[in-house]
Amino acid sequence: MTKKIIIGNWKMNPVSRKEAQEIVRGVKKTAANLRKTTVVLCPPVVYLENLIGKKVGKTLFGVQDVYWEEKGAHTGSISSLMIRDVGAEYVIVGHSERQAGGESGEIINRKIKAAMKAGLKVVLCVGEKDRDTHGHYLKVLEVQLKEALAKMPPRLADKFVIAYEPVWAIGKDATGVETPEGFMHNAIFIRKVLSKIINKKQAMTVPILYGGSADAKNAESFLVAGGADGLLVGRASLSAKDFGEILKIAESLK
Ligand code: PGA
Repeated sequence: MTKKIIIGNWKMNPVSRKEAQEIVRGVKKTAANLRKTTVVLCPPVVYLENLIGKKVGKTLFGVQDVYWEEKGAHTGSISSLMIRDVGAEYVIVGHSERQAGGESGEIINRKIKAAMKAGLKVVLCVGEKDRDTHGHYLKVLEVQLKEALAKMPPRLADKFVIAYEPVWAIGKDATGVETPEGFMHNAIFIRKVLSKIINKKQAMTVPILYGGSADAKNAESFLVAGGADGLLVGRASLSAKDFGEILKIAESLK
């Protein structure tokens, strides 16, 4: 069995270094005993260096966004090279909350290429805003994948994971609940689309994670019944206890 990947997306939380350190301390404690689970935390970038600390442990770090240029006159932006330099390894690209702020498929594509070139692992988020019963939403997923991964060099295809996050199931204002069956159905579709973009073998092995109100209560059903390769966790990653529960569940799977 391949390792499950559990990623915490803290978004714009918490508001103090002290709280951030407390969460990380707790997560590191749980993660220290894990062998079958990859643990990644994506805190706000200002906390990154402090949280990573001096030695690389079992808790890996990532960021929630990145700019596509390496350096230069881009006020307020942070590049992949800088992120690598402080010791982070992952970057979330194309999160729906950034797309809502105007991020296009073309920009997502540029960010992915720049991040991969710098050696970061990309967590590409895809997901429809609305679910219809006729399957029209699948077209949305297909377009998102094709735009995000356009002209991707095949040798880079093992440098990314996909997070399938139906937008309507994300956050405290979620209007619905995704099921493990729904996830599985969409993950199969995503692999089918991927096999037209990258080579077939790579398309079969790219990890596909589930995200959207993932927590300790539903983690096992998405990982087992849904066959998810991991989870992208928002709110529940802000508590070392809740996130730790999810990690233990992932680790306990046969
Ligand atoms: P949530 O967020 O777990 O709070 O729904 C998930 C995400 O947006 O990545």
